Amino acid sequence: MSAEHVTIFDTTLRDGEQSPGAALSISEKLEIAHQLAKLGVDVIEAGFPVSSPAQFEATKLCAEQISGVTICGLARANAKDIEAAGKALTPAKKSRIHTFIATSPIHMEYKLRKKPDEVLKMAVEAVKCACEHADEVEFSPEDACRSEMEFLYEILAAVIEAGATTLNIPDTVGYVLPYEYGQIIAKLKANVKGIEKAVLSTHCHNDLGVATANSLAGVRNGARQVECTINGLGERAGNAAMEEIVMAIHTREDFFEPNVTSNINTKEIYRASQLVSQLTGFVIQPNKAIVGANAFAHESGIHVDGILKHRETYEIMTPEMIGLSGSRMVLGRHSGRHGFVDRCKQLGYQLTEEELQTAYEKFLEIADKKKEIFDEDIAAIINDEVRMVEQVYRLEYLNVTSGTGTLPTGAVKIRTADDEVHQAAACGDGPVDAAYEAIRLATGQSPKLDHYSIRAITGGKEAMGEATAQIKNEAGRTFIGRGVSTDIIEASAKAYVDAINRMLTVQTDDKAATKVDL
Ligand code: KIV
Ligand code: ZN
Repeated sequence: MSAEHVTIFDTTLRDGEQSPGAALSISEKLEIAHQLAKLGVDVIEAGFPVSSPAQFEATKLCAEQISGVTICGLARANAKDIEAAGKALTPAKKSRIHTFIATSPIHMEYKLRKKPDEVLKMAVEAVKCACEHADEVEFSPEDACRSEMEFLYEILAAVIEAGATTLNIPDTVGYVLPYEYGQIIAKLKANVKGIEKAVLSTHCHNDLGVATANSLAGVRNGARQVECTINGLGERAGNAAMEEIVMAIHTREDFFEPNVTSNINTKEIYRASQLVSQLTGFVIQPNKAIVGANAFAHESGIHVDGILKHRETYEIMTPEMIGLSGSRMVLGRHSGRHGFVDRCKQLGYQLTEEELQTAYEKFLEIADKKKEIFDEDIAAIINDEVRMVEQVYRLEYLNVTSGTGTLPTGAVKIRTADDEVHQAAACGDGPVDAAYEAIRLATGQSPKLDHYSIRAITGGKEAMGEATAQIKNEAGRTFIGRGVSTDIIEASAKAYVDAINRMLTVQTDDKAATKVDL
């Protein structure tokens, strides 16, 4: 029996970007969208166009530049949102408007202050309006899993009649458990009039840690679209992680009746995961399923022995399947430019000659301090030197003194994009605090530092340090910056400057983006 297709709907750029701190610039969103297309997703939810000029612009640029994928824009159930989405999606070869309205008693009474019949009318009008502005229309009854089933049957039948072809069932607050979610999908399939004309879709949040399990229960019961994000990014505890859904379908085809399949090129998963982590600044926990650093690491002697005798004793997937090379190649100073370039290509980086040269120079600098350079180090170098957010400020010089009985002092020289040099010195509670105070004085920017952390990228005493600085601007929006160096104070200072650059770039994108004129 041939397998049925499950549509992979990626919402990293919309729901994923709603994670506090995951603010992406327009160019970063485009870079992720290109990688999603390479990965083979069927639909990219590129943004919520009415919500800000930058969201509008990002959706429009994805619609212009990304081919072979349906581009989707989110809209509440009102004409203004839908027209904005339609306008942003105009250049797309295949466009979809995703319109939603809440259907649970608690949301209708307290948030919308509307009666169910008013909500139903708004949903139908929204879907009809959306049909005039996009090739296809998806409808979501927000907070579906806390809605009354009878009301869901009624509203979903009405929106199918109005023209919706995908019905997405969000577990908006991550409340239900896998058996319940599967039952909801099964009941909708059995009871919604006209359901054979539409595709049921899952959209599960991870508040109870079961977003992937719920989505798979949905597929098992007849859903044929899954909404998910790379690395499980998303509101609060996040969404279902795409890599988990795809690899579960791939590895356990036998579990689904009939068997299901996706269009995803699994070999691009690791690359997509790294890219999203690097651009959002969200570090992947080592034990994260599929893409965590330990996902394919075997420590126990019994397991290692088993693997050596027969790999499948302890491995249900191979690292190669997600695009990780099986062998952990280690480079060093003597690997040469050719070796370095070759490794970058194997890791999936497509860099210009100039970018390769910049990365190679940094590689040599690090190879002088650190004998062995691992894939993770190469990724960090490329992120740090090549895939930088716009350099409004660049850290050119840093000198920090600290020690027992010494007042920690930091001095910095910062170059601006206009080639101006700003210098400052300051004291602090410790070396990082002193460096940060000097950066604040030199840049004239003083965002609140919410969180700071440092970790070793690889093991060993020569490991490079990666610092993460999370800041908040005056409007309360969070930005995360990362910095890498063999010197942890330098990594920390770079992370802070990176966070400031992200804040300024996103703020400028918002101001500069085309005004949404409706
Ligand atoms: O979680 C949710 O309910 C959503 C909707 C907009 C689909 O993200
Ligand atoms: Zn959501």
